[in-house]
Amino acid sequence: MTRKRWINLFTALSLTASLAMPLSAVAQDAPHLKKQGTATQLIVDGKPLLILGGELGNSTASDLKYLDGYWPTLKAIGLNTIIAPVEWDQIEPKEGIYDFAPLEGLIKQAEANNVKVVLLWFGAWKNSMSSYAPPYIKHNYKTYSRAQDDKGVPLDILSPYDPDNLTANQRVFGALMGHLKTFDKNHTVVMVQVENEPGMLPVVRDYSPQAQAAYKGQVPKTLTAYLQKHKASLHPYVRDVWAAKGNKTAGTWSEVFGDSIEAQEIFQAWGYAVYLNELTKSGKAAYDMPMYVNVALNSPEQKPGEYPSAGPLPHLFDIWKAGGPDIDLMAMDIYYPNYLEWADKFKRPDNPVFVPEANRAGKTDAGGNAFYTLGELDGIGFAPFHIETLPDHETHPLTDAYRVLTQIAPIVLANQGKGTMRGFKAPLSYEGVLDETPRTFDLGGYTLTVSMVDSRTPKDTQDIAAHGGLIIQTGKDEFLAAGRGVIIRFSDAAQNSGYRVGLEQIVEGEFIDGQWVGGRWLNGDESGQGRYLRLPPEKFGIQKLKVYRYK
Ligand code: DGJ
Repeated sequence: MTRKRWINLFTALSLTASLAMPLSAVAQDAPHLKKQGTATQLIVDGKPLLILGGELGNSTASDLKYLDGYWPTLKAIGLNTIIAPVEWDQIEPKEGIYDFAPLEGLIKQAEANNVKVVLLWFGAWKNSMSSYAPPYIKHNYKTYSRAQDDKGVPLDILSPYDPDNLTANQRVFGALMGHLKTFDKNHTVVMVQVENEPGMLPVVRDYSPQAQAAYKGQVPKTLTAYLQKHKASLHPYVRDVWAAKGNKTAGTWSEVFGDSIEAQEIFQAWGYAVYLNELTKSGKAAYDMPMYVNVALNSPEQKPGEYPSAGPLPHLFDIWKAGGPDIDLMAMDIYYPNYLEWADKFKRPDNPVFVPEANRAGKTDAGGNAFYTLGELDGIGFAPFHIETLPDHETHPLTDAYRVLTQIAPIVLANQGKGTMRGFKAPLSYEGVLDETPRTFDLGGYTLTVSMVDSRTPKDTQDIAAHGGLIIQTGKDEFLAAGRGVIIRFSDAAQNSGYRVGLEQIVEGEFIDGQWVGGRWLNGDESGQGRYLRLPPEKFGIQKLKVYRYK
């Protein structure tokens, strides 16, 4: 692409481009996204897939023999999907010479183990840096420009403002997706992450000559049109920066947003979003399947540049949605304890929830977070990072959670987006402090009060952060609950009806080959003689419940 064309693209991304998710145009046989009520689901071979996943460590799949040794572990955890990188330097070892053996080997191993794959394109950016670019890019810094800091010092980060950087990436990514389309006949690969955690470090934005030229240019009409259209719902971060300069609809970046650190982060976010949208389009042109971007979260005390500036963070969603209409979703990588607080921010009508990296694998709250993500947020999937080193993987709470989620996945999928399912987990704060307040919500005409502290077990023996679950209304006055360390009480949702609510029947059980096999009847101590439903704290379980009203 010529420099002029790139600048035109940057400044004038078509106003007519649809901002809606491109769902309808997808060939039915390729993995695609589909709406169900308020949810968006990943459809593979005609059926929705609930990703019970795990992301591999960065280098595990770079050596297929090394990866091969981990399959017993991955299978024991009960994953149905692995999230695994393909590296630019392996796929294109020399300029224009492709080697797809690493990709093919990964797919063959996954297929042999009956597991799906989400591919991570480790191309231009991996955690901000450009460490996976091939040698021909790394050495030829005159053609493939580096980003620069505010003193003009080059960084080992490819500039998103250099058209040559984009063109080289588009060529290889297009070739990769084209090869995938012909090779992966069984749709083992179900989704692709475009790059990994883009973001500027250690300064707020790129100050390379190309970036400086873009900064002096006009704010694209696409962006100001989006801001105008969504004025009432803009994130306060963007809203306030725009309002401070009088909500201008035309002008240079300085004129429209000012020159504050926030304004410069907005500029850089637009640069990344437009680049990644063009890259996504090239990939989809070769093989149209769901593609997303992921983000490293910011901690409260950090400024842009201290955290990877300008990634698809909630405070910048407006910019990314405006600049990246072909990107299907923004996904969070979360290593903080306040999982629920962050996950809630990623669920929006224009953004389905998918979590490719959740917590450090050793934490016990991963299982409860999976239930919350899939049950409360109608998530597409959940995946802890470096899954192959999950400690005590056979007995880890995540393995136990996946055992139960595998059984109930068809029912969870059937109920996503319909208002018939709720998920819960005791939230942790950023500092790791647990909030034990019970949650209350209405479901199926009843008010449910859910406690994540088990009143029948000594508190100091409970790992409350690991507790959580979900409940589904399966019929009139009938529910299915699954989880661990949860007590649920029912009352009539109709105010002042005078009715009280009792438990008609409560049975624990499991699904074997998709069929419900009931076990113990729990009318006694296990339900407080019919006062509540209790999912014991030791392990995840499933119970079916019928309730009734009386006066
Ligand atoms: C987030 C990145 O996306 C991963 O690839 C990995 O580098 C982890 N951080 C390391 O904790």
